[in-house]
Amino acid sequence: MLGTPLLMASRSPRVRKLVTTTPASRRLVNRFVAGETTGQVLAATEALTGEGATVTIDHLGEDTTSRAEAEAVRDAYVALLGRLGDLGHGERAEVSVKLSAVGQALPGDGHRIALDNARVICEAARRAGTTVTLDMEDHSTVDSTLEVLRELRADYPWLGAVLQSCLHRTEDDCRALAYEGSRVRLVKGAYAEPASVAYTAKADVDRAYVRCLRILFESAAYPMVATHDPRMIAIAGRLAEEAVRTSASFEYQMLYGIRVAEQRRLVSAGSRVRVYLPYGADWYGYFMRRLAERPANVAFFVRSVFTR
Ligand code: FDA
Repeated sequence: MLGTPLLMASRSPRVRKLVTTTPASRRLVNRFVAGETTGQVLAATEALTGEGATVTIDHLGEDTTSRAEAEAVRDAYVALLGRLGDLGHGERAEVSVKLSAVGQALPGDGHRIALDNARVICEAARRAGTTVTLDMEDHSTVDSTLEVLRELRADYPWLGAVLQSCLHRTEDDCRALAYEGSRVRLVKGAYAEPASVAYTAKADVDRAYVRCLRILFESAAYPMVATHDPRMIAIAGRLAEEAVRTSASFEYQMLYGIRVAEQRRLVSAGSRVRVYLPYGADWYGYFMRRLAERPANVAFFVRSVFTR
């Protein structure tokens, strides 16, 4: 599998420099990222909501190394939410937040700093009439992220969680979060994880995804089926029918720029579809995970480098 070595290489400063200074990166980044400015992400939001989709906006950034940086990310979210509120988007445009971007990885007090910053973001979302979902990062962050979720849901019950089917623990986490109104975004997982905590064969990750879907659809939770995989999408549709769910009781989610025709097909079939819309200058980590997911993206990237 190309994905794991690529994810590991992406941690090297030399690879980062090569990728971020190559003009060809820019062309491929534009496929996955809505732009660097708030104006650009708001324009993309208008376009997608105009087509009947909803969005969740990610201000790109992760692994923040100082408190000041974490506060700057928090403030960027608050400003963005202010604009979304002014524009009256409501729940059609929510935000997704990586806790490592708001301080989780800081030594000592990181968990507390991330919790405090996430609380400020949730409060701004409440004022704007919308919601927040906490992204999930590598397995070492899951306990801290679920603890932040638990604390904040006491005041913001609409706060969304992300669970990754690749992790052995996730079926249990699904059961724990399968209660009324609980918004759970189920993904396969985008991080290179050791076999001690995660399934490493794609077929096992897929099987676990189906088991988790079943837990969520048979519960009173609000499943957010975040995948581009046609099999998983079809299975979710069948589980919704079996559970006699209305189309308003769950949603499909996909990343900006990936399987756009399928996003439109689902919207026109009457399903709820939310597009994960990343923007900002710090696109490197996000971009490398998208390359790692699909060898064809790497081939496209390499071709662009040599044919510039
Ligand atoms: P799979 O990888 O099997 O792909 C199925 C098909 O989708 C492929 O055959 C291809 O056609 C298409 N496809 C998938 N990825 C592509 C790509 N990069 N480029 C082009 N085509 C592609 N992960 C995580 O660990 N934490 C998180 O918080 C999130 N958040 C998140 C939100 C949303 C809304 C989505 C859709 C995904 C995430 N992810 C994530 C990423 C997720 O874990 C996973 O890595 C990707 O969604 C790819 O897996 P699929 O389920 O799409 O299946």
